Amino acid sequence: MVAKDKLIIALDVETPAKALDLVKQLHHVAGMFKVGSQLFTSAGPQIVRDIIALDSKVFLDLKFHDIPHQVAGAARSAAELGVSLFTIHASGGSEMMRRAVDSVAAVGEKGGTRSAVLAISVLTSMDATTLTQIGVTAPPSESVNRLVKLAEASGVDGVVASPQEIESIRQAVPNPKFLVVTPGIRPANNETTREDQKRVATPAAAIAAGASYLVVGRPITGAPDPVAAAHAIVAEMETSQTNGTVQ
Ligand code: C5P
Repeated sequence: MVAKDKLIIALDVETPAKALDLVKQLHHVAGMFKVGSQLFTSAGPQIVRDIIALDSKVFLDLKFHDIPHQVAGAARSAAELGVSLFTIHASGGSEMMRRAVDSVAAVGEKGGTRSAVLAISVLTSMDATTLTQIGVTAPPSESVNRLVKLAEASGVDGVVASPQEIESIRQAVPNPKFLVVTPGIRPANNETTREDQKRVATPAAAIAAGASYLVVGRPITGAPDPVAAAHAIVAEMETSQTNGTVQ
């Protein structure tokens, strides 16, 4: 897969007009666009159809977590919309994850899109303190590995993970086809702040560590020239596959 196809741009904007404007500017530079809760809740499923109509792929990041029957239905709807990737919470349990995977397979058998299902293990905003508050006393890295293994055993296609988690996930799940989708990316020459990202890596470091796709939002969408910023990130992904280091 070429570097451009591994770049997912997060469309964390308020309106469909802003989102579509970014897609029109950037669809030659990036393989996919991420629609999250903010944009989906304001714009609805039409925004997904509109992005696909512009010949782009969609990562629907709504992090489904509900009883298995509900998640099975949501997964079917996501697959029928034609999204390439979508997220569910691994902490919803094995049956919930299996039902999502089964829904996607059923849509695929009818000739629809075979979406890939990604599991969220532990949100990057959670640390040992916040996990303890909800009764999870295992260290965060242990929880991540346990949930990732459960996700793989439940048939999901991959996980979303911070750059620091990639290597241990690759060890826990040796299957090279298992997808690891990584946010928390900041370009090597990034002069802006890290915003609220606590654990970051350069594009090169994340690719070198084994990421399948990188999710980048504000370093591109908030740049004075988003197209130039995206090109620079793709160039970093292409040229420095082996010399990056995770910060
Ligand atoms: O920080 P940036 O705008 O590049 O974020 C891109 C994506 O990374 C967001 O859409 C969000 O899903 C994810 N993110 C995260 N942890 C944070 C902030 C953002 O995983 N602390």
